[in-house]
Amino acid sequence: MKKPVIAIDGYSSTGKSSISKVIAEKLGLIHLDTGALYRGVTWFALQNCTDADDAIDLNKLFSSLDQIELEFRNDHGELVLYLNHIDISKQIRTNEVSDNVSIVAKQKEVRDFLLHSQRSLAEKGGIIMDGRDIGTVVLPNADYKFFLTASIDERTNRRYFELAGLGIQADREQVKQNLIDRDKIDSEREIAPLKQAEDAIVIDNTVLTKEETIDLILSYIKKI
Ligand code: C5P
Repeated sequence: MKKPVIAIDGYSSTGKSSISKVIAEKLGLIHLDTGALYRGVTWFALQNCTDADDAIDLNKLFSSLDQIELEFRNDHGELVLYLNHIDISKQIRTNEVSDNVSIVAKQKEVRDFLLHSQRSLAEKGGIIMDGRDIGTVVLPNADYKFFLTASIDERTNRRYFELAGLGIQADREQVKQNLIDRDKIDSEREIAPLKQAEDAIVIDNTVLTKEETIDLILSYIKKI
């Protein structure tokens, strides 16, 4: 039996990636955190494609995209993102990347660059992919589609504690503002905006734990 293709989209810090990781383990699927890819391109741009004011120069980035090689490697069960053979899994979570990623991700050149590899990974089935446009653009024929949402205060708490766990100092108000700003840019962009696919199951997990959200998603997968 062909293994399923599952799309998980939703707002920032709704737990998409950590939930997808567990579901992948339980169902024997590959997990692809597409947000990490956009963060990886942003990290590359911050290192290599800035102007005199240290801001990202998008034209420099577009002409350098062919120098970017992003790869996930399995390190003791953890998927670790490598950029040109260097582990950047911690760097992509910094505030600097979070503050710039949505502007980078709204560019057609960047989305086209990442689209092909996302689609080809799903060709054989057996994958759970999380992001913003998976059910609508990347994998419109996915077997299962979910769209996660939660209140802004709950999402702020989750991101704040996630950063603390990584040893990254953050100000709670700034974390909240970053989530609001990213969701706005992601939802309002022209190409592949963040939105619920018409056939997605919407889950508001404001008052659900991670385990409860996982159980709910698994119950739908068994039911459908
Ligand atoms: O999932 P995460 O919060 O790490 O994603 C970081 C950013 O990457 C999002 O705010 C969005 O701008 C971009 N992104 C995207 N499309 C995806 C996944 C992420 O535009 N499929």
